Amino acid sequence: MESPEKPAVLIVDDDEALLTQLRWSLGDDYTLGLASDRVGALAALEKACPSAVLLDLGLPPAPASPSEGLALIGEILRRDPATRVIVLSGQTAPDPAARAVGTGACDFLAKPVDTEELRVLLRRACRVARWEREFRTECTRPSVEVPPGDGTGMQVVAATVRKVAASDAPVLILGESGTGKEMTARAIHESGRRRGGPFVAINCSAIPETLIESELFGHEKGAFTGAHQQRRGRIESAAGGTLFLDEIGDVPLPVQVKLLRFLQEQSIQRVGGRGELFVDTRVIAATNADLQRGMREGTFREDFFYRLAVVQIGLPPLRERGEDVVTLAHGFLERFATEQGRRGLRLSETAEEALRGHTWPGNIRELQNRVRRAVIMSESRRIDAADLELTAPATPTGTSLRDARDTLERDLIRRCLEKHAGRIAPAAAELGISRPALYERLERLGLSRNPMGSGRSMFHSPELT
Ligand SMILES: Nc1ncnc2c1ncn2[C@@H]1O[C@H](COP(=O)(O)OP(=O)(O)OP(=O)(O)O)[C@@H](O)[C@H]1O
Ligand SMILES: [Mg+2]
Repeated sequence: MESPEKPAVLIVDDDEALLTQLRWSLGDDYTLGLASDRVGALAALEKACPSAVLLDLGLPPAPASPSEGLALIGEILRRDPATRVIVLSGQTAPDPAARAVGTGACDFLAKPVDTEELRVLLRRACRVARWEREFRTECTRPSVEVPPGDGTGMQVVAATVRKVAASDAPVLILGESGTGKEMTARAIHESGRRRGGPFVAINCSAIPETLIESELFGHEKGAFTGAHQQRRGRIESAAGGTLFLDEIGDVPLPVQVKLLRFLQEQSIQRVGGRGELFVDTRVIAATNADLQRGMREGTFREDFFYRLAVVQIGLPPLRERGEDVVTLAHGFLERFATEQGRRGLRLSETAEEALRGHTWPGNIRELQNRVRRAVIMSESRRIDAADLELTAPATPTGTSLRDARDTLERDLIRRCLEKHAGRIAPAAAELGISRPALYERLERLGLSRNPMGSGRSMFHSPELT
């Protein structure tokens, strides 16, 4: 069984001296299997499932011809298409190289083998093989979704974070604004072996299209007007750590192509530069945009999406996280109360009920803001629904059915309008009534269109929308 630290590599060569040399130079970093002909190679493939195969083309019984090696490439890839085959050959003519790559080899090295070059190729090959396998496993099971509304959401997110932190595969985090995408990305970084390295976050929607490429990839001196000196990009700055690409849906198509290449090859070219730079950076991306729609409309590349979404984490909106809203509120309350020197503050029962009933368009960020404000503003030790600027849920009063129905209707309509910021059409659609019918009820129940009042609430800040 291959460990992530020591990927399995099979070497197929009939040259004993070369086998010995490779065993010495690669044995510390890889779990090596050795074979000297096609039959031996097939037997070794039965036993292990190598990430990469280093293959000599001229094998017995026909060592002077590439036919045995070429046939073996096909057999290796039929068994597992994720295996990376690197051909090592004494035949320097371009023809066998082209044929080997045409048959499915990922690279070609002429003998005598330059060990340093081989190390670079091998490291990259094993990494890509691992991702491809992880990707296929992920494709055959649903993406890591947090089950909505069962109150265990946070534990599931935490378990997912721990699981993906152990690998280096790219992660795509999806979720509405304020659901904790950046926080999840940081948690993945902090829980993995890269925690000592940098966490570099870049908001792709905040950078003008013309600058984003050089911001990410860096540039050489003189690459364009104004490039007075060489500059490292964010990808390079994140070497040894994690690059967080926020609002990935806003990356322009040409930059998507370059990023795709980086994900595949782990190497970049600075703008205006020629040389390839190997950069060991883990990529985590996030968005609240609908990438499926972007792909349908041609603004988001499908191949880029699949490379990026090796692991997908869907963060549910707060309104679907059941009791999490109360648990989170208690956590925030304790934190802010301590910060403000007001320990001992408590949430009243109606405040908890109001938290459960609110639709949370701004998700966790909105909750955090409401609790922070309540801690500052409340005059007693008990935080009530009003301190959170929430309406307590209705309890029907009176004895007639009509009174009870009016109270519940009033409450439902108020919440629905609040969710849709006072807009009649979507609120009516959600309530399942026509717009005139909604106007009629507002009038009859004595409700205003804007249930939050005149806009004095701090929750109308752009941070929430
Ligand atoms: N599980 C959590 N526990 C405590 N605080 C959280 C949690 N998740 C998110 N937060 C807090 O909520 C706020 C919003 O989180 P974050 O910035 O990660 O959201 P986001 O999804 O990236 O939002 P946006 O799409 O608007 O950028 C942050 O202040 C963060 O600290
Ligand atoms: Mg964010």
